[in-house]
Amino acid sequence: MSVAPPKMLATLRVNGAEIACAFNPNRTLLEVLREDLALTGTKHGCEMGHCGACTVLVDGETVLSCLTLAVECVDREIVTVEGMAGAGELHPLQRAFVECGAAQCGYCTPGMLLSAAALLESNGAPRKSEIEAALAGNLCRCTGYVKIVEAVALAAERMREAAHA
Ligand code: FES
Ligand code: FES
Repeated sequence: MSVAPPKMLATLRVNGAEIACAFNPNRTLLEVLREDLALTGTKHGCEMGHCGACTVLVDGETVLSCLTLAVECVDREIVTVEGMAGAGELHPLQRAFVECGAAQCGYCTPGMLLSAAALLESNGAPRKSEIEAALAGNLCRCTGYVKIVEAVALAAERMREAAHA
């Protein structure tokens, strides 16, 4: 009979909040976010690194949370889709996704949003090909991608305008 490893106590920084938690060291970040912290915006897809549904940001970089142990993320900044909106206001990417019809079933949307956010953080004026490359690891079974790419371009344009206002 196998015995589960003892739980470790750790503090995770998620969406700007310090959260004390206890988890087994073999638990993935996806499992801890969804099952322990009830942050179910991060989606559970293939669990093999193929679909991108589980994408979150760790220290500003996109990470597949299904392939990342939670213990690797201690003392790092984790951002999930729940952390994107400001006080009562959608993130420009979220607003653009709504306006462009870039979300249909929405299962891929959290991962798409976070991959796009990481892109716009490093490149405020991406070309279409750069948006497509940044989202290449995020699969969508509904939209055909055209509206998603349009939404990211629209959000980028608005964020540039806001920065220069
Ligand atoms: S669930 Fe992580 S890549 Fe598919
Ligand atoms: S909107 Fe359904 S998978 Fe992308």
